Amino acid sequence: MVDFNHVTMVYPGGNKAIDDLNLKINNGEFVFVVGASGSGKSTLLKLILKELSPTEGRVTIMGNDLSTVKSKGLPLIRRQMGVVFQDFRLLKDRTVYENVAFAMQVVETPKRDIKIRVNELLSMVGLANKEKAYPDELSGGEQQRVALARALANRPKLLLADEPTGNLDVDNANEIMKLLERANARGTTVVVVTHNMDVVNSMRKRVITLSHGILIKDQPEGYISNEF
Ligand SMILES: Nc1ncnc2c1ncn2[C@@H]1O[C@H](COP(=O)(O)OP(=O)(O)O)[C@@H](O)[C@H]1O
Ligand SMILES: [Mg+2]
Repeated sequence: MVDFNHVTMVYPGGNKAIDDLNLKINNGEFVFVVGASGSGKSTLLKLILKELSPTEGRVTIMGNDLSTVKSKGLPLIRRQMGVVFQDFRLLKDRTVYENVAFAMQVVETPKRDIKIRVNELLSMVGLANKEKAYPDELSGGEQQRVALARALANRPKLLLADEPTGNLDVDNANEIMKLLERANARGTTVVVVTHNMDVVNSMRKRVITLSHGILIKDQPEGYISNEF
């Protein structure tokens, strides 16, 4: 599903954010990526999304070598990925319903199918009664759940989440993790960047630890005992 082969990412200006990374994530896995602030976690996700291209090495996603993917091919690959950004990135002038529907309109889903799917997603994240609300009228936890519903709308093969529980209290964080676990149980490969040790330790999934862009630990059923 995800294959990093000797990947190095140096930002213009000289910051080496990823340093000779080798990493394989198989279809159906659930993986946490942890590490101190600045260790390269978000850069890793951006390389998967091809928001960034590596300085050296090769990133292969669902069998596609991203260095040779043509501009026409990229949307086809991205369409199979769902992303939850730390800052939600919801459209402020659109309702909850429209925010989730938007991802499906982009791929030209028939209107009737959109309605069924959006209702199903909003019930799943517990926001069926908020479909007419605007993002500003929601709490942080609710906005995060809308972002997750939107990321799941097109039934992605790969779901990426950058600190999805970053701004949430314990109950909301656990709720989000349950939803991610459910998506994973239905076949979606899930990669979650997090700082939340309690979340990681309660889930017992694969945990990858980055330090200064270097993969220093890869545990099959990880447990974190201290702050990196
Ligand atoms: N756009 C950028 N330009 C230059 N340096 C960057 C940029 N984005 C991130 N970095 C640097 O790359 C390193 C890794 O950043 P990042 O991937 O955001 O880490 P994390 O998500 O783990 O906090 C840091 O040293 C950061 O300062
Ligand atoms: Mg980050």
